[in-house]
Amino acid sequence: MRPSDERFEEALRLIPWGTQTNAKRPYPAFDGIMPKFIVRGKGCRLWDMEGKEYIDFRLALGPVTLGYCYDEVDDAVRAQLAHGVLFSMASPIELDLARLVHEMVPNAEMIRFMKTGEDANLSNIRVARAYTGREMILMTGYHGYPDWFATEDSPNNGVPSFMKDYVKILPWGDCEAAERLVRQYGERLACVITIPYDFNADTSGNYVRYLRKLTREYGILLVLDEVLTGFRLAPGGAQELFGVDADLAGYAKAIANGFPLSAYVGHRKYMETLYRFKMTTTYAGEALSIAAAIATLKIMKRDNVHAHLRNMGTRLMEGFAAIVRDIGVDGTPAGLPVAPYVLFAGPDPGYHERLEFLWQRELYREGIFGNPRWFISYSHKAADIDEALEKAHRALRRAVDAEVRERSTVQPFWW
Ligand SMILES: Cc1ncc(COP(=O)(O)O)c(C=O)c1O
Repeated sequence: MRPSDERFEEALRLIPWGTQTNAKRPYPAFDGIMPKFIVRGKGCRLWDMEGKEYIDFRLALGPVTLGYCYDEVDDAVRAQLAHGVLFSMASPIELDLARLVHEMVPNAEMIRFMKTGEDANLSNIRVARAYTGREMILMTGYHGYPDWFATEDSPNNGVPSFMKDYVKILPWGDCEAAERLVRQYGERLACVITIPYDFNADTSGNYVRYLRKLTREYGILLVLDEVLTGFRLAPGGAQELFGVDADLAGYAKAIANGFPLSAYVGHRKYMETLYRFKMTTTYAGEALSIAAAIATLKIMKRDNVHAHLRNMGTRLMEGFAAIVRDIGVDGTPAGLPVAPYVLFAGPDPGYHERLEFLWQRELYREGIFGNPRWFISYSHKAADIDEALEKAHRALRRAVDAEVRERSTVQPFWW
């Protein structure tokens, strides 16, 4: 048994899931191949407890935009640490960060900080309800664990059943369902909250632009959950990339290179409802994360980080195309260059999922920390991408063979 196996066994006895974030639980089907713990990161690389090195395309589930232990960000955090972490009044650097977000995010007339993605989303739906005086919401996509977003999650998950009456679910991309539900619930709806892009092959932005038009027509607020897309797809997130002007939007993952900070932003007339009620938490102005976010956003602007993410992602996609050609598998590079993937086609509808799953397994073996979507950071340079492609090539060849052998037993399963 490896030290990490022993430690994980004990973790499972003390910590439900053995981890604080469900998506970070090792897949049982990848036991002995996928690392159970990560002890260190630098740039685009990670090291596990046994000292194995990985090129990482998961980036802590999205927050790491510049790279692990990025010196300029960490120096800013250390400088702030010398002054303090949290004070008895606001810190002046909160305004410095608000100014930066205001400059970068199209609808950010006013900005407030929180800690997590779901904090930002919850705050936005409170603002939407308070502003409109309506109680129902329509939602598309994952917005976090809180009750309002988990009404359909699973039975006996602790969410009061009455909440279902106030939350209706929209499948992503389904404009007809959106129109039907908006018509049906019309004046009871405070907002539609949606992820602007679901990281799939439809990169057009048509769905979110359609929702913008529809919500305006019915006087319903459009709340964008940019927790995963913000500061990743473009400096101004999906709002900038797709040309959408949301009423309110929530940001978190990519804002502070991994430090815990989120922001909810929007047009002044909505954000000013915050003067009427309490939406507050003690740690929202925690200064280390604010200093990290200021450094991160300044670097993004100064170095045109997003052009680099697009270039490296394009290099990866071109490499994917060459790999599938060489191996002779039916696959097409898909998604946006900042988070691409390969869409496989095969003899049955489950083929893509099976092959992708087995490819991920073989990628871990090669020392590539995988993800269904390959997130790129500023620390992924051309040599890292080329090294990753070489390993991905070997991994896919093995996965294609394994798919034939394991077709009847493999059960693709993502947490
Ligand atoms: C689109 C989206 N919204 C909200 C969340 C929740 O964010 P957090 O885990 O920071 O609360 C996530 C997390 O994965 C997300 O991807």
